[in-house]
Amino acid sequence: MKMLVTGISGQLGYWLAEIGEESCEIFGTYLTRHVEGNNFRIDLSERDSAFSLVERIRPYCVVHCAAASRVEFCEQNKNEAWRVNVTATKNIADACAKYSAKLIFISTDYVFGGREGGMYTEDDIPNPVNYYGKTKMAGEEIALSLPASLVVRPSLIFSLFPGNYAYSILQKLKSGAVSVATDMLATPTPAPELARAILHSAEKDLAGIIHFAGATRISRYEFTKKLAETFGYDPAMIRPAKAFEIGFTAPRPGDTSLDTSKAAGLGLRFPSVDNALDDLKKQRMQI
Ligand SMILES: NC(=O)c1ccc[n+]([C@@H]2O[C@H](COP(=O)([O-])OP(=O)(O)OC[C@H]3O[C@@H](n4cnc5c(N)ncnc54)[C@H](OP(=O)(O)O)[C@@H]3O)[C@@H](O)[C@H]2O)c1
Repeated sequence: MKMLVTGISGQLGYWLAEIGEESCEIFGTYLTRHVEGNNFRIDLSERDSAFSLVERIRPYCVVHCAAASRVEFCEQNKNEAWRVNVTATKNIADACAKYSAKLIFISTDYVFGGREGGMYTEDDIPNPVNYYGKTKMAGEEIALSLPASLVVRPSLIFSLFPGNYAYSILQKLKSGAVSVATDMLATPTPAPELARAILHSAEKDLAGIIHFAGATRISRYEFTKKLAETFGYDPAMIRPAKAFEIGFTAPRPGDTSLDTSKAAGLGLRFPSVDNALDDLKKQRMQI
């Protein structure tokens, strides 16, 4: 199967390429971080570039991972966030429609407002509280306007890929304690397992919306303590704080944990945080 992965230079793109290369012919796009292989440097917000890319590759499926994925950046750079998360998604979606490619759009738990108790299902109505969430919700709407597309919602994707949450925390711990929110809950999703589930969805032609997220609902604070402990740090180096004390610019949703019953019904089960952290130790990236 020919698959085009946008954002192959990012965390999820890396894992899709790593795991998918055995079963798929993978092509990718990057913007600022060059990646060797069948990959193209393309700004997907340029409509002609997006179209000629899909026309040239003629993939069976496009996994659209490319995004402005940093919540603070999106709040402070709204035009840029819209350009990457909405305009580029529209370009890719239209190109998929024109060249009959299946679109898998990677969305986020941040399309939800973070109600008490979380555990959102695919039937819950998105109500994002920050600009990142708003742009991703707009991206979902574009993707869902294509009949066979799939919207995948993960929650706090982690791996040892440079720059992501787990990697950044482990870097910060080298120079001291870190304050982490006790009132932000998620279902942390290991990137390799997420990549496997996405590849499976492409093979099985899943359509609609699906939550692919870890099996444990947990606060960022508790998750980060476990992460620190896994890598031999004193968990007391993780200091409890309320989200408002951390000084974020963008409003943060409280509990955006995701219910994954629909995925489980399809035989797709995700590991607990403890098991995923054991696996994280075995990843061969440098931290
Ligand atoms: N990280 C999380 O915790 C999390 C949680 C839930 C959902 N998600 C969603 O999951 C997806 C993958 O996240 P990730 O962690 O892999 O993100 P990431 O590591 O930040 O990667 C983002 C990718 O987008 C590319 N990109 C940015 N602007 C572009 C443009 N204008 N044209 C083309 N490519 C562009 C980047 O290219 P260069 O690096 O080469 O510039 C990079 O490959 C995103 O859609 C994100 O919204 C992430």
